[in-house]
Amino acid sequence: MSAFVSQHGGNIREAAARYGMKPEQLLDFSANINPLGMPPAVRQAIVEQMQLAERYPDVEYQALHQAIARHLQVPVSWLLAGNGETELIFALVEHLAPRRALLVVPGFAEYRRALIRVGCAIEEFVLEADSDWQLDEAFIAALHPGLDCLFLCTPNNPTGVMPPAPLLLAIARRCAELDIALIVDEAFVDFIPQTTGMIPALACMPHVWVLRSLTKFFAIPGLRLGYMVSANPGVATIRLRQPPWTINAFAALAGERVLSEREYIAATHRWLADARSWLTAALQAITALTVWPSSANYLFLRCERPGVDLQDALMRRGILIRHCANYPGLDKRYYRVAVKSEAANQRLVKALQAIFSDTVSD
Ligand SMILES: Cc1ncc(COP(=O)(O)O)c(C=O)c1O
Repeated sequence: MSAFVSQHGGNIREAAARYGMKPEQLLDFSANINPLGMPPAVRQAIVEQMQLAERYPDVEYQALHQAIARHLQVPVSWLLAGNGETELIFALVEHLAPRRALLVVPGFAEYRRALIRVGCAIEEFVLEADSDWQLDEAFIAALHPGLDCLFLCTPNNPTGVMPPAPLLLAIARRCAELDIALIVDEAFVDFIPQTTGMIPALACMPHVWVLRSLTKFFAIPGLRLGYMVSANPGVATIRLRQPPWTINAFAALAGERVLSEREYIAATHRWLADARSWLTAALQAITALTVWPSSANYLFLRCERPGVDLQDALMRRGILIRHCANYPGLDKRYYRVAVKSEAANQRLVKALQAIFSDTVSD
C-alpha cells in the first residue's frame, strides 16, 4: 500500500483511513511543523479573544502589515499578507502572467499548479544527487531570454539545501539582465538562525519577489498565514485584486504577535540544532539509507534497499513519512522526514532500525 492521493505531507486523515487507523494513532513526520507548537502567549491571546470571530477583521490588516514591516524593516507598501503563502503563490503568478517559467526539480508542487493555471509553459532544471542537490554556476548559464519567470525555494523543499548567498545574488542579477521575474520562496528560511534571506537586496531588485510562510516555524498551518515582500509596484496591484478578508481574525492576531516572540524563536533554533544533528547522525548510521545534510527542519533521504516501501513499512508501525515518488525528478526510493521532538525522533529511528533488521540484505 502507500502512495496517497494527497500531493502534500500532513494528510494524516487520508493516511490513517487507508490503514484502518485513527488519525490520532499516527505519528506524523510528513508535515514540517515546529514541534514546540504555537507560542503559548499567542495561543492564550487567541483563546482570550474568541469574540474576534463575531466581527469582520480589518480589511487592510494594518496592524498585521505593520508588525511584519517592523520585523523585516521594510516599508509597509512592500508587503502583502495572505491566507498562507500558498494564496500568494497563486496571486503572484496570476499577476505576472508568465509565458515561460523555469522550475528547479525536485521542488514544491504548488509553483507548477499555479503556472499551469495561467497557461504558462514550464522548463525544468534538474538537481542531481551527485552534486548533493546543490545549485551551482551552471544554473546561471541555464537562464535564457526566453524565460520570464523563475521560482527558487531557499532552503529547497524537499532537499533542505540552501544555496550560498553569493550564488543567489548572482542569479538575481542575471535575472535582472534577462528580464526574468525571480520568485524566492523562503517558507523555511526562519529555521536558519541569523539568515536574512533575499529581503535586504530587494531595494535595488524590483524584479525579485520574496514569499514567506508563518505556518511552519510558528506551528499555525491550520490558522494559515504567509506574506510576500517586494519593492515592485505590482504589490499594490495584487493587493487591489485580493479578495477581501482572506485572513481570518485569529491568524491576523497571531501574525501581529509571533514575530516578536524572541524567546520562542531562540528556543526553536536551539531545538532544531540539537534534534537535527542527532536525527541526521542516527539515520546516517543506518546503512540502508542515504541521508543528506539539511538547512531546514526536515531531512531528505533515499532508501538503498531494493523493494522496500519505507512509507508503507513505517505506516504499519504508526508513523507517517512523506514519500517523494510524485516529485518530478525523483522516484520511489526518496523520502522526506520532519525533524520532531527528541522522543518522536527516537521512535522513528527505532522503527527504521527494526525495518532494516527485518529486511534481508541483498
Ligand atoms: C516550500 C513551501 N512553500 C510554501 C508552502 C506553503 O505554506 P503555507 O502553509 O504558508 O501556505 C509550503 C507548504 O508546505 C512549502 O513547503
